[in-house]
Amino acid sequence: MLPFNDVESTRNLISRNADELAAVLIDPLVSRMAFVPASAEYLTMIRELTREKGIMLIFDEVFSFRLGYHGAQAVVGITPDLTALGKVIGGGLPVGATGGSAEVMSVFDGSGGQPRVEHAGTYNANPMTMAAGLACMRQLTPDAYERLQTLGERLREGLREALKIAGLSGQVLGQGSLVALAFNDRPFTNFREMQKGPKENQAIISLHRYLLNNGVQIVPSGSFILSTPMTEADIDFTLEKVLAGMREIDK
Ligand SMILES: Cc1ncc(COP(=O)(O)O)c(C=O)c1O
Repeated sequence: MLPFNDVESTRNLISRNADELAAVLIDPLVSRMAFVPASAEYLTMIRELTREKGIMLIFDEVFSFRLGYHGAQAVVGITPDLTALGKVIGGGLPVGATGGSAEVMSVFDGSGGQPRVEHAGTYNANPMTMAAGLACMRQLTPDAYERLQTLGERLREGLREALKIAGLSGQVLGQGSLVALAFNDRPFTNFREMQKGPKENQAIISLHRYLLNNGVQIVPSGSFILSTPMTEADIDFTLEKVLAGMREIDK
């Protein structure tokens, strides 16, 4: 377990255990952490150190791949050796995938006889999932990402405004189509710092329930995830309901 965004402790832990490490796995934009990003300094250090020590770097982009046309890795400018993908690449159907450098992926290559690593599975290359995933990927053009970024910004700005109008303390985080609302105004850079107190917890439970009863589904932890069919009208409808829901929260 590496302390997120703590450059020196992480450098020491990886260096000290380098001989036993096959890989370091990290999600560059963690959904369970209100999308607080891994800092550029942190990711650069991990990339350089893992390369130097011969340890694979794996990005979990199951969630964060939807950050941009080339995934989160292009946004942060770091290339891992392997990437885990899921969710959005299945177009709503269950899917998991992994991809990486030619060198790493060559272990699955059976063209010269037996591959070094067998990759078999009951649901591999499921035709229905592949068709849905392809349809979804075709819609996620660079223009679509730009539109989602604009919609995301509209929602983030609107949520900040709603907090002000409702007189609640809070902060709004996230990038692109990923938006997170937290009912606290303390800065946090890792999982421990962002743990909710009972009052914050109650506020998000209350808002989530209000929204569900009024036609808006968010992630129970307070995240809002946008998708291509959504329009500005959907964002404005959401904001109207959020403000009404915030007014019901006990201060
Ligand atoms: C970032 C991230 N990684 C991995 C997973 C797990 O994926 P799976 O359920 O396919 O194992 C999830 C699922 O929610 C996720 O959000």
